[in-house]
Amino acid sequence: MIKGILLDLDGVITETAEYHYQAWKQLASEIGISIDRHFNECLKGVGRMDSLELILRHGGVAERYSTEEKAALAERKNRQYVALLKNLTPDHVLPGIRDFLRDARADGMKLGLASASKNARTIMNALDLTQSIDFIADAAVARSKPAPDIFLLAAEGLGLSPEDCIGIEDAEAGIKAIHAAGMKAVGIGDAATLHEADLLLGDTGKLNYNAVKNYFC
Ligand code: BG6
Ligand code: MG
Repeated sequence: MIKGILLDLDGVITETAEYHYQAWKQLASEIGISIDRHFNECLKGVGRMDSLELILRHGGVAERYSTEEKAALAERKNRQYVALLKNLTPDHVLPGIRDFLRDARADGMKLGLASASKNARTIMNALDLTQSIDFIADAAVARSKPAPDIFLLAAEGLGLSPEDCIGIEDAEAGIKAIHAAGMKAVGIGDAATLHEADLLLGDTGKLNYNAVKNYFC
């Protein structure tokens, strides 16, 4: 029996994964590094500073910047990202998500947010979804996915054991994090990157609460 469902935010609840990509792409180009959507797959689910390290390494310039300079670059990217977030309204919840959360709650399921984003609360408020979730795990106290920390924190916050929970993710690092936490994983996206998911759905429109519950129970 599963008692809790832990959801990723960017790319699962809303399409902010695209805003992250746009903001990183702009920062990267300002420092002479080119990134594309294929490279971006390895940034999904990964925390801000770790993402910057991956980009700098991709450009072969990881040694060029001091810790302070890296912090300033990450801050610059975040300012651009937060500016893009100003466009976010409750209409930007991805298809199927509101129904999924409503049906899960009506069935007594506990719901947690397991996002690596320090902007998670702002985004959930902008989407008018904060009240639809029981617990938001704090990204600041967790190691980046693929470490299991954020999923373990979310389960703990719901008062549940990891084995009573499943996770939903759009990132390869996220699926690995869910498994490392000892949970089963639902992947949202394509098999090329999410082949390790226990249940793979092409997009959130295919996320049906009863079907997911029956699959894992
Ligand atoms: C994750 C995103 O949810 O949050 C990553 O998938 C992002 O792309 C990470 O880097 C951290 O987000 P933020 O908002 O704290 O910079
Ligand atoms: Mg994601």
